[in-house]
Amino acid sequence: MSTKTWWRDGVFYQIYPRSFSDTNGDGIGDLQGILEHLDHLKGAPDSLDIDAVWLSPIYPSPNFDFGYDIVDHEAVDPAFGTLELFDTLVQECHKRDIKVVLDLVMNHTSHQHPWFLESCSARDNPRRDWYLWADPLPHRRPPNRWKSAFGGSGWEWHEGTGQYYYHMFLREQPDLNWRNPEVRERMFQTMRFWLDRGVDGFRLDVFNAYVKDNLLRDNPLKLGRRPYDMQRHIYDLDRPELLEVLQEVRKVTDDYPDRVLVGEPLGSDPDIAARYAGDGSDLLQMVFNFDFTERPWHPAHFQRAIRRWDSALHPNAQPCYVLSNHDVSRHASRFGGGENSDARAKVAAAMLLTLRGTPFLYAGEEIGLKDTPIPYIEIKDPLGKRYWPFFRGRDGCRAPMPWNSSQHGGFTSGQPWMRITPEYATRNVEAQKQDPDSVYHFYRKLIALRRTSPALLHGRWLPMIAKPTRVLAYLRECADQTLLVALNFTNVPVRVNLCSALPPYRWKLRLSSSRSGHERLRGTSTRISLDAFEACVMERAR
Ligand code: NOJ
Ligand code: CA
Repeated sequence: MSTKTWWRDGVFYQIYPRSFSDTNGDGIGDLQGILEHLDHLKGAPDSLDIDAVWLSPIYPSPNFDFGYDIVDHEAVDPAFGTLELFDTLVQECHKRDIKVVLDLVMNHTSHQHPWFLESCSARDNPRRDWYLWADPLPHRRPPNRWKSAFGGSGWEWHEGTGQYYYHMFLREQPDLNWRNPEVRERMFQTMRFWLDRGVDGFRLDVFNAYVKDNLLRDNPLKLGRRPYDMQRHIYDLDRPELLEVLQEVRKVTDDYPDRVLVGEPLGSDPDIAARYAGDGSDLLQMVFNFDFTERPWHPAHFQRAIRRWDSALHPNAQPCYVLSNHDVSRHASRFGGGENSDARAKVAAAMLLTLRGTPFLYAGEEIGLKDTPIPYIEIKDPLGKRYWPFFRGRDGCRAPMPWNSSQHGGFTSGQPWMRITPEYATRNVEAQKQDPDSVYHFYRKLIALRRTSPALLHGRWLPMIAKPTRVLAYLRECADQTLLVALNFTNVPVRVNLCSALPPYRWKLRLSSSRSGHERLRGTSTRISLDAFEACVMERAR
């Protein structure tokens, strides 16, 4: 694949709008805040220089699940701004060559959505069948054992009409019935509404749950930690009928030039996820792979994850990788328990940005941001409230972005909706920009290198250590360029042998997270020396 395609060659940046920047002092990030920080993203001399933003949901929502419960898919939540302001944001992004991808939640709506209110009103309401209703079993038991991914039964009793409705997530998030052609057409209309406004694509929230088994068959049981994990989700997820539905979804975006669909699968293994990317022609252009968010800090784990994904996908399909997002603990806190977090963040960034596949960054990771510890009484995430203290929810990774060392990190002039990192006085965008050795500048260098390296954009990925214990090393190679990436996962200097089949190339250093001037590969040797937590990229001298 050598033709230039923005979503294959670009770097994506996820913004959680509530926490990015507040401009009216209500403590909630807003679209104006994004507009005012576009220089951070692209177009200024010290910008990060990303290519696309993905905005977590901006639609009106009663916020039971912070925007992932929508009451109107074709409007902007007044807390974030207006449709006009959104149009301005799209225009301003486009002027800077930043694409805009919206988060589209089409599996479910809010329980306060007018469609659901109608659906609840009577069994013979024309919208009844827009959601998944079923009769109780004897003794008013739920129709089957399907669980909610957020805990408890997936079925909620509705006294008014004497039936259960299904919700894969909160009971405040009833699932739509995608078998109903009216529902599909209505959702496609929503897609067109945004595409017509110039949106460049969508991140599809839990797309693999759109279609459920029409007979509501029970999932087979298996061992697992939580009740939800004790089922093999073959009837409530990943139905074979879904492929045709996704083809229809893709047709909607294909009517517009150069748009993209990125699917967020729930709990899929790489082989299943790869199905939805197909050969890249008629399904989703990309499907998230969350392997990196679940791996401990060990090179063998990452190598295995990359190999699995690489081999599961069709050669024309585009891999994509993510270290952090709004649903998991930030990797600066996660990897190595948060120790030496900047050094690890640089190693992880070097990996993310030198793999074959589109990198997705999560706002804050470019400054090595960690989770903010949130005390119980301030917990906002329903999952945190439900599972405390075993699981403290997803608030920590959703805390506001620290821009400078002023009060609340310059995020708001008011009271932030969630407390900011306790480190904001020293860890903030401004401070990172002033420090040439910061995580931020390392991201910038990596992004710049990626942009100009055909091998990083299109080259093959070839692991260089069969069983890595300390160092992850791989080649990225295309006809015009060969790069060697070496990442020391340990806090001590190491010398390790690379694959003996590596031809006797001479290498020159392109980039390193260490400032020492030592030689990494002497002459044509295949024995490489790295400083503690050093991440480096070398290029074959021609
Ligand atoms: C996945 C989203 O990323 C998550 O934040 C949300 O809670 C669920 N889908 C439900 O929409
Ligand atoms: Ca605001």
